Amino acid sequence: MPLSRRTFLATGASVLTAPALPRLAWADDMPILRAAPSTAQLAPEGYDTTPVWSYGGTIPGPEIRVRAGERVRRRFVNDLPQPSAVHWHGIRIENAMDGAAGVTQDPVPPGGTFDYDFVAPDPGTYWYHAHARSWEQVARGLAGPLIVEEVEPWVGLEGAATSETTLMLADWRLQGDGALHEASFGDLHDWAHAGRLGNTITINGAIDARVPVRRGERLRLRVVNAATARVMPLRLPGLSPVLIALDGFPVVPRPVETITLAPAQRADIVVDVPADLATLLPILLDAGREEWVEIGALSDGDAAALPPQAGPVRPLPMPVEPALDLSAPQDEVLRMEGGAMERLDRARLNGVDQDFRQLVAARRVWAFNGVAGDMDEPAFRAEIGRTVRLRLVNDTRWAHGIHLHGYHFTILSRGGRPDPHRDRRDTVLVLPGEPVEIAFVAQNPGRWLLHCHMLGHQASGMLAWFEVA
Ligand code: C2O
Ligand code: CU
Repeated sequence: MPLSRRTFLATGASVLTAPALPRLAWADDMPILRAAPSTAQLAPEGYDTTPVWSYGGTIPGPEIRVRAGERVRRRFVNDLPQPSAVHWHGIRIENAMDGAAGVTQDPVPPGGTFDYDFVAPDPGTYWYHAHARSWEQVARGLAGPLIVEEVEPWVGLEGAATSETTLMLADWRLQGDGALHEASFGDLHDWAHAGRLGNTITINGAIDARVPVRRGERLRLRVVNAATARVMPLRLPGLSPVLIALDGFPVVPRPVETITLAPAQRADIVVDVPADLATLLPILLDAGREEWVEIGALSDGDAAALPPQAGPVRPLPMPVEPALDLSAPQDEVLRMEGGAMERLDRARLNGVDQDFRQLVAARRVWAFNGVAGDMDEPAFRAEIGRTVRLRLVNDTRWAHGIHLHGYHFTILSRGGRPDPHRDRRDTVLVLPGEPVEIAFVAQNPGRWLLHCHMLGHQASGMLAWFEVA
């Protein structure tokens, strides 16, 4: 099935907003987050529903919404046929709650539970997803939005948005009968290339999507790329989007024409909906080689028009953060190697040197710093409070979305040129031959994963960790 050009239906989005509860001494009031097999109408109407795995029975999972500083509390119930764990992507979380199965917690077995209870310190657009066999579990649907609101509501202030909507994008590989293409789960050929790309894009779990908007409103769109491999360049022709946050972290508002999101990245953008909106406003995705396809559209929600907003977009409040000390940082390098066309001739695995054939037999085709995953030793250790400057070097022919758990980092330079915006992110797209320098203050103690968010790459060698103590 070719990538669909059809649009989608936003009413398919489930928004279950759980109220924030005070922390209690006993946990029996814990709201449940249940992962279980279910079905969803991912293929166009007329096709069968798709068997998926989901949180709370919906694709995407229920939107979890708290205010910055409040706790997120969920009893994860695993009704899947596999062990699992929930990772709260981008949250500067306490290490034990990070959900990295095998690193910060034991995987939760089928029938088991795990209580997640943590503070969400920073406002912004985040998401949660399975973190065990994620290349399969996320591809089957285990992901949902996690929205942390500003302490003082931003929506409604002068120059700010008048309302907001979350758009969670996913990429599915469907068969002709609408079922997931299960035969390709774990396909090493996919993993050695761009990853397991899909053929159907959904927005909030629906194809043919119409996002109802109000004429004249200033809308904040929280866009999440929940795909397991696909980099998504996006456009909203006819609107003049203004970027206000990346990966949850505010930026000085700036106009953007194309918003490119690697897997796991988010962008918050503001658009002014025309007061005379008569037709649909398409959402376009570059499916490759500048072939822009419509994956959904903003449509008139029929509410009375608002008087159009004028003037510049109000910035989000900038958080106060420890300043980077770049006078004498701890310098580290993460070198990416392997993949198709630059095969990995040697790498270490479990402390043993392996050649290409042995690595392929172990299903490893990528490496970080000569190690193909399963590191006994951290990629680096840092002392609390130290500024770490990490150079991400891509010696492969493929793009990689590198993610650090537990941290936001500052982009210092790309391809040797200082980054004019110094954006903070938790995931950065690193193109072949274009090194990216990032830096962060090592303030959050623990063992933190560091991996490519193309989830097949992560499973086949691009996984490491670092320790802050
Ligand atoms: Cu969203 Cu370890 O990942
Ligand atoms: Cu990768």
